[in-house]
Amino acid sequence: MPVKTTTDHYGIVDKVVLMGATGSACVVHTHGATITSWISLGKERIFLSKQAIFNDVKAIRGGIPVVFPQFGPGKLPQHGFARVTRWEFLGHKDSVDGVQARFLLTENEKTVASPWPYKFRLVLTVFLGETDLKLSLNVENTDTREFDFTSLLHAYFRTNDINGTRLQGLAGIKYVDKVLGTRDEVNPEEPLVITGSTDRVYVDAPDSLALSFENESESLQLTKTGFNDFVVWNPWIELAKGMSDFGDTEYQEMLCVEAGSVDSPVVLPAGQHWEGVYTMSVQKN
Ligand code: BG6
Repeated sequence: MPVKTTTDHYGIVDKVVLMGATGSACVVHTHGATITSWISLGKERIFLSKQAIFNDVKAIRGGIPVVFPQFGPGKLPQHGFARVTRWEFLGHKDSVDGVQARFLLTENEKTVASPWPYKFRLVLTVFLGETDLKLSLNVENTDTREFDFTSLLHAYFRTNDINGTRLQGLAGIKYVDKVLGTRDEVNPEEPLVITGSTDRVYVDAPDSLALSFENESESLQLTKTGFNDFVVWNPWIELAKGMSDFGDTEYQEMLCVEAGSVDSPVVLPAGQHWEGVYTMSVQKN
């Protein structure tokens, strides 16, 4: 049985657990289609705050929430409505390589009355292999009008020690520094090691990055296609203290490396599709 589901008191699927043949597993909450766990080769790879709130209202703190149709603040609530809306579980499919599950979000009464009133079909396909997790986000414009959006897969990766966590592959790439409020900064150092509050949008970033952990024998290969940018975020000490759903010292245990198209919006004419894919794979060092 490669997929197990649980339902809420209305009988609607609220959680889906994908199970791979060799012990890999992935948990998806239909609230926001948020992945809250990915276990590969016996180890949890995803950070979920111990203080995350599961009330089907708030965004889940940690995991991999889907940001759509707005990244950051704007006319809609921060990071858009997809991460705070219940998605529909469309079912699963097995293959020799693993198991995949699909989730659907379309417009509802609230979204058509919002500042982003369009009809759309958003499908998240989650593919779980033995050593990889592949997320593909497909946006279809089912409206009669063109629309634009920004979007990302807000992945929180787990680390035992932020000081020994290294991100490789961003050398020479310009970034927007949301902490300093500047543009066109360039990494002085490679690999990137987080030493303070970090909130950067690497614009038109390379498709492949490596996330490694000191004294550990495995690293993560992070690969995007379709998405233009990578966002790197760690709240560090002061911001962490101000977040009610995040422990004061949990900044030491996580790093967000988010694949998205956020610096320039994606423009999608009526009837057209767009797809962004984010694949994370465990590699032996
Ligand atoms: C990141 C943004 O993607 O998400 C940050 O770049 C933001 O600016 C962070 O603080 C967390 O956002 P939220 O809404 O989940 O607290």
